[in-house]
Amino acid sequence: MIIAIDGPSGAGKSTLGKLLAKKFGLLYLDTGAMYRAVGLAVLESGTSLDDADAVARIAADCNIELVGEPDHLQIILNGRDVSTEIRTNEVGQAASKVSTISEVRRILVDHQRELGLESKNGAVLDGRDIGSVVFPNADIKFFLTADAEARARRRFEEDLEKGRAVSFEHTFEEIKERDHRDATRSDSPLVRAAGAIEIDTSDLSLEEVFGKMIESVEKFKG
Ligand code: DC
Repeated sequence: MIIAIDGPSGAGKSTLGKLLAKKFGLLYLDTGAMYRAVGLAVLESGTSLDDADAVARIAADCNIELVGEPDHLQIILNGRDVSTEIRTNEVGQAASKVSTISEVRRILVDHQRELGLESKNGAVLDGRDIGSVVFPNADIKFFLTADAEARARRRFEEDLEKGRAVSFEHTFEEIKERDHRDATRSDSPLVRAAGAIEIDTSDLSLEEVFGKMIESVEKFKG
């Protein structure tokens, strides 16, 4: 069983993806973390994020592994655990930039398909293009949305908790900038895939959204 979860940043994709994977015994693949790992590798190399050829070469040389259970997923870049480092806003912006480069997408999409198909019982993948490009034949597709302010509020609270918050306004501006780039890039922009179940999470609790998603999965399983 392949479950695709797409949507803009801060809509709850990763929290819900992890919960679903755990509940149904599936592999959880955080595809955004893979773009973030490439973004981090580019930042650390001192290469310009605008140099598409050099960025693509770095992506080709990156060995990215996702290790462990959904709720303790570790992101390993060239043998080093970068799970915490990739969560900064700076790396998020870098990820959004490298993700506009087609060659980077080709490399990561191939890797994501491989991991999804290799999984024993199936996988939950969260990202921007899972239901439209990576697994257009996914068994279930979700499209999670929420208004930009609600998403910025959640991201800001998360950043406060982790001690990396600047200000709400800063987070709000960053979310809007990333939304715009992710939805307007020419290769695989964020779209609601055909057949995707759309859930607006702005005014719903985590439990309510999770309940709706479980219902859809149970229905599919029959
Ligand atoms: O989900 P996230 O915030 O960790 O993703 C970081 C960036 O990676 C996001 O701004 C866009 C990009 N991304 C993508 O283009 N395609 C995906 N499947 C996942 C993420």
